[in-house]
Amino acid sequence: MDVRMMKPSDIPHVQLANITNLPENYFLKYYLYHAMSWPQLSYVAVDVSRPPKSPYDPPKIVGYVLAKMEEDPADGVPHGHITSLSVMRTHRRLGLAEKLMRLSQRAMAESYTSSYVSLHVRVSNTAALHLYRDTLGFKVERIEPKYYADGEDAYAMKADLSELRVLSQESEDEGEGVGSAGKAGEGEGGGEKKERKRKVKLGRGLGVGELVERNESGK
Ligand SMILES: CC(C)(COP(=O)(O)OP(=O)(O)OC[C@H]1O[C@@H](n2cnc3c(N)ncnc32)[C@H](O)[C@@H]1OP(=O)(O)O)[C@@H](O)C(=O)NCCC(=O)NCCS
Repeated sequence: MDVRMMKPSDIPHVQLANITNLPENYFLKYYLYHAMSWPQLSYVAVDVSRPPKSPYDPPKIVGYVLAKMEEDPADGVPHGHITSLSVMRTHRRLGLAEKLMRLSQRAMAESYTSSYVSLHVRVSNTAALHLYRDTLGFKVERIEPKYYADGEDAYAMKADLSELRVLSQESEDEGEGVGSAGKAGEGEGGGEKKERKRKVKLGRGLGVGELVERNESGK
């Protein structure tokens, strides 16, 4: 099984999994919006047990988590939100949903210094409730009456991410992940030398601003 970040080319297959597993479905552009706006937060589980017969064979996506940062948080606190999560029946109880959720939560804390993650779940969805509450430590914040189109209530749940934020801050302070790929396993000969951080130019410094902001109107 390959669990990796969602790519735009995965989206039609993710949408198919969503339609197969859940009554809450979304336009393709909404998936694209997630992938373009918060590419680090959505993940897919791909069954790679059988190699593709041709380069045109689509990836066999058996699970996904679609996540975002809340754009206008009512409490003013930056936090992540799980838009949708599902795993195909054939691949359930293998720990895939837990893995997908943990990857997304870690990226929320590391990439967006998210304080917590929120979601909604049907009050009747026992499997998902177990996953969120017992496995991932979510707490019920409140009940939202008639949240779903068919009139069912939702639990609004959230989980604290401050521990993940501290861990990512600590590893940043230690210089991990800054051009040090492969270091951890190298051991011998590595010595005590610390990786030096280099300043690099981004965006405007490279003239990208001029490219994207060129005024095409008039004249
Ligand atoms: C909910 C769902 C995503 C779980 O996916 P999964 O990959 O089977 O879950 P995992 O294997 O990672 O399970 C992790 C934990 O979740 C809980 N869990 C998962 N399925 C469960 C079930 N049928 N009954 C009770 N608990 C369950 C267990 O605590 C489990 O830990 P354990 O296996 O150590 O007991 C999957 O059942 C699904 O896609 N359901 C339909 C779509 C859906 O409801 N999505 C959630 C919308 S909010």
